[in-house]
Amino acid sequence: MQKNREDESPEKTRNSGEHSTVTSDLYERKGPDLRRINLNPDFWHPIAWSHKIKPGKAFGTRYAGDPVVIIRPEDGSAVYALEDRCAHRQVPLSKGHVDGEVVRCCYHGWAFDRKGDCVTVPYLNKPGVGRGVKTYPCRESGGLVFIFPGNPALADHIPVPLPSQVNNPEFKTRRFDPRVNCHYSFMHENLMDMNHQFLHRKQMGQITSRFMGQDKGENFVEARYSFARKGGEQPLAERLLFGKHNDKIDVKDQPVDEIVTVRTTYPYQTLQIHDKDGDLIMDLWAAYVPQGKDEDETQTFGLLSVKRPKWKFLLDLAWPVLGIFTNRIFLEDKEIVELEQAAWRDLGGDHNVEVFPVVRNLRDLLIRSGIPAAR
Ligand code: FES
Ligand SMILES: [Fe+2]
Repeated sequence: MQKNREDESPEKTRNSGEHSTVTSDLYERKGPDLRRINLNPDFWHPIAWSHKIKPGKAFGTRYAGDPVVIIRPEDGSAVYALEDRCAHRQVPLSKGHVDGEVVRCCYHGWAFDRKGDCVTVPYLNKPGVGRGVKTYPCRESGGLVFIFPGNPALADHIPVPLPSQVNNPEFKTRRFDPRVNCHYSFMHENLMDMNHQFLHRKQMGQITSRFMGQDKGENFVEARYSFARKGGEQPLAERLLFGKHNDKIDVKDQPVDEIVTVRTTYPYQTLQIHDKDGDLIMDLWAAYVPQGKDEDETQTFGLLSVKRPKWKFLLDLAWPVLGIFTNRIFLEDKEIVELEQAAWRDLGGDHNVEVFPVVRNLRDLLIRSGIPAAR
């Protein structure tokens, strides 16, 4: 007879030699597997950097397995987005040639305009013979190109995000766009859960986080932390960023230097640092865009804005060091979330034992805001 897991006491199973079956509601997740929840396409999702799409160029990319081409007309006017498949023989339009406002397929030269209509079939002298291609609503904001992959009728009712400090001259912004082999949800969890500083001990030294509180609402989850150093030296790059910390004081007694606020406002994520006077000194905005149909590969778009100090050139001098420092930390995160994804594949599902309420709330948010993957 199949045993009801709820009946099994932890005491009984502790020494059973099998997997622990601690079944408290704290651990046991009922309901859908988060890694089988697709990102909701009814939002504006970044898909490319604006500056990479020069006038007269076509740029091919993907959203959740669907090929998309972004086209910048020769006069440099606003970009537009089409399905990256020619209506004739389905080869990528991104291999084609931008001619004025239209894109000509590289194969037989069919031309498509920003409405996706086929305006010319060059070897037939009849208008209206070629079929058109699908279009995506497309906008530029904060140096990113966004598309609306879902229901186009909703696009005008959903705001296009503007990463908050990217146009602020008081801040210097670094852009980054690593590809990570994992489901987007692992990325949200990794940044939200600051209890993983142990992973970064080589880069950060003995730093420990203090949870300062959380908030949640229909479309967001937020967690606040402060950090204290329990030993070791503060890394130079971190010191340049946040100033010198009070070292080696017991975490409970340490006056709070900065507050780190991590927030997922579906489907985007931010990490802001405010100094002890409450001024914003760092602002990270990130979006995680699925590449393949299985959504287990993610294109990250990140904008890291750092407040310029009084001596503005200091930040310019420190910029390369900061880049190396943040990149090393990111590589540690990338490796670990890819290992999580690999374990999910090996086990055929999610076996996470999640004990931190913030992450449990985040998982609920991602599940209820996303779309169950078709089996
Ligand atoms: S395949 Fe595109 S024009 Fe023929
Ligand atoms: Fe990390």
